[in-house]
Amino acid sequence: MKIDAIIKIVESRRNELMHRADVVEVIDYGAGNPQENRTQEDMVLGKHIKVMLSVLAETGIKGERMYNLYNIITKLNPKTILELGTCCGFSSSYMSFFVPDSKIYTIEGSPNIATIAKENHRFFDLKNISVFEGRFDVVLPELLNKISPIDFAFIDGHHDKEATLKYFRQILPFMSQGGVMLFDDIAWSDGMKEAWREIIDSKQYVKFEDYIKMGAIWL
Ligand SMILES: C[S@@+](CC[C@H](N)C(=O)[O-])C[C@H]1O[C@@H](n2cnc3c(N)ncnc32)[C@H](O)[C@@H]1O
Repeated sequence: MKIDAIIKIVESRRNELMHRADVVEVIDYGAGNPQENRTQEDMVLGKHIKVMLSVLAETGIKGERMYNLYNIITKLNPKTILELGTCCGFSSSYMSFFVPDSKIYTIEGSPNIATIAKENHRFFDLKNISVFEGRFDVVLPELLNKISPIDFAFIDGHHDKEATLKYFRQILPFMSQGGVMLFDDIAWSDGMKEAWREIIDSKQYVKFEDYIKMGAIWL
């Protein structure tokens, strides 16, 4: 399917959800906003909040960032994709449309958000996506062993410096040679800028690309 047709399908569903008045009970295991300075303990416990579905539906990659994702994965043609941060399932849906023969494993901490993602995957009739519910640090160890080698990893949740570096180091040994790790929101906070700098300084890659808001490394 052509990219314009895919965008039309995904964005019209997003638009529909953005016009609903539902409120969703969410457990947020992420870093909140850059000013919040949540502690590691706060993030392990999670914050119980109510969020408008319209706000959740708007979250996630679109526009230029979605094109970056498209360019990388259509060239790479990954068999196995890991995503940290499902949200409403729009990025996993895009990946599924872009590489329909891949198998996509995506993790979401908030059960009600994971339910919305699964509904969206069903709505689009996408059958190659598995949503795992739970905190990344809880779900990852078993999942990595089960699904490796991973050809493409998209890190798009828990935008905290230490957490991002931990996921980088944890996932790296399970990546295939020639695989790609894509990090979203690398300029979201000072901590995320530092995390991206440390990833680059690690030199554990063949090449990297800095897209300002996203960064990718080729292994
Ligand atoms: C930016 S959104 C993901 C957007 C999605 N990738 C897209 O582009 O459509 C990040 C998601 O990660 C989840 N999340 C954040 N920190 C998490 C953690 N430590 N464990 C599990 N889920 C987490 C949040 O609940 C949120 O839904």
